[in-house]
Amino acid sequence: MKTKTWIWIAGVLVAGSAAAAAWMIQPAIAPIQPPSPNDFTSDSIARGARVVAQGDCMVCHTAAGGAPYAGSLPLRTPFGTIYTTNITPDTATGIGNWSLAAFTRALRHGVARDGHLLYPAFPYIHYTRMSSADISDAYAYLMTRTPVVSRAPDNDLLLPLRFRPMLAGWNLLYLRPGPLQDDPTQSQEWNRGRYLVDGAGHCASCHSTLDPIGGERSPAFSGGNIDGWDAPALTALLQTPKPWNRDQLAHYLRHGWSPEHGAAAGPMGPVAHSLSQVPEADTNAIATYIMSLQKPATNPAPAAASTSTDAARVQQGAILFAGACASCHGTAAPMMAAGGRPSLALSSAVTGDKPDNLIQIVLNGVPWAHPEPTTFMPPFSAVLTDTQIASIAAYVRADIGKRPAWSDVEQRATKIRKENQQ
Ligand code: HEC
Ligand code: HEC
Ligand code: HEC
Repeated sequence: MKTKTWIWIAGVLVAGSAAAAAWMIQPAIAPIQPPSPNDFTSDSIARGARVVAQGDCMVCHTAAGGAPYAGSLPLRTPFGTIYTTNITPDTATGIGNWSLAAFTRALRHGVARDGHLLYPAFPYIHYTRMSSADISDAYAYLMTRTPVVSRAPDNDLLLPLRFRPMLAGWNLLYLRPGPLQDDPTQSQEWNRGRYLVDGAGHCASCHSTLDPIGGERSPAFSGGNIDGWDAPALTALLQTPKPWNRDQLAHYLRHGWSPEHGAAAGPMGPVAHSLSQVPEADTNAIATYIMSLQKPATNPAPAAASTSTDAARVQQGAILFAGACASCHGTAAPMMAAGGRPSLALSSAVTGDKPDNLIQIVLNGVPWAHPEPTTFMPPFSAVLTDTQIASIAAYVRADIGKRPAWSDVEQRATKIRKENQQ
């Protein structure tokens, strides 16, 4: 880790201890008898299902092959690994004896029932924007799930960060607790969209650049990196080869792909899968709000002929593409005709500034998460070497994307492959 990071951490620790001494120790909230399902109305539980889908709670709180909401999914951060906790209503290992007040405090302030501060890998800086009604519905939904006995493994974090009270310093910098207020100058739909994006949807936690201690940099949505994937800027959707519009974006969020822009891959896949379960009015509102954030379209870069300096590599890539990819992505491939798939030339994985998403998609494929069977692409990690992936990338970028070559693709592929295996 770079020295600069340590200076930051040290600064925050000092600021944290000095200014936030009072916040470091939070009182416990008394345990309760687990509520019975009859304590909640079925309307509230149904609304809670929608809130929990808007918030992707299941994505993080479910381990691979594990019971829903029972936790133990490892989250890799620059500071080590944090495991998600069990949020089923089991009393010993979950949140069975948490009152609504304790649950609300966790979402609004990042504090557990017993008073310990929670790590911001849990995006409470966004959930704090949720309305009390939504939080109480989410509580009703979660408290009526099947209790599961499961305790998360111990976190594996850098030593100073194991001392949770220091998080008070982080909260001082980044947590602005309290629900979002409507902007009366904007439409109801815009306000609904902003509420979902900034609150439950926590879109900025992946789509913003993070500073060295994991705080979101402003301006928000200028693009970030998550699990080795590039999360593109959400303010540059008019600056793509085919500018997005509100309906395309709404379709993408609901269905996990857009006929004009391709599929939601990597960490965006589960987000879209969650959003497929919320009412269409919500995904429309999110799209309306996100489109209002766009920087004006610039004239697209002139489609240069191949600018790759490595003609031999591009040619090698063309041969590999013909064998491995063209059956689905070639212009004459049946998929193009049947599913109306967009050309790879329109995919941000091909036109973006970094090769990371193309590498990830080739290594991992696009899993079969959506009802549309045509969104499936097989993984190539066991089939193609990093050199071959770099050649394919050089070809796709130059001949299909018509963009200047990326540099160091092979090294990136080796690095990403290694990180994926961890
Ligand atoms: C990006 C991943 C992520 C998402 C999404 C997420 N959580 Fe969490 N959550 C975590 C992590 C990590 C922890 C544990 C933090 C710690 O141990 O300090 C946690 C902890 C919690 C806790 C405290 C539980 C305890 O035993 O201390 C509650 C309550 C909670 N989450 C509820 C939710 C709800 C409700 C949602 C959806 C609205 C949600 N979480 C979505 C990552 C996530
Ligand atoms: C069996 C069919 C199949 C094969 C073979 C295949 N793909 Fe795909 N690929 C897909 C599907 C389906 C998607 C999801 C795209 C969509 O819905 O537009 C996809 C998506 C992609 C995307 C992301 C485009 C987007 O949606 O944003 C890229 C890039 C890509 N593939 C590259 C490749 C490369 C390079 C190869 C060869 C190494 C390859 N694919 C082989 C079926 C295939
Ligand atoms: C867990 C991290 C994560 C969260 C949360 C998340 N995204 Fe994404 N998103 C990504 C990644 C990674 C990609 C790139 C993968 C791809 O294009 O298939 C992406 C791609 C996108 C794209 C396509 C951009 C392009 O140029 O191709 C849009 C639009 C988008 N996200 C919107 C949203 C919105 C709106 C939200 C909140 C409701 C959201 N995302 C929440 C990680 C995330």
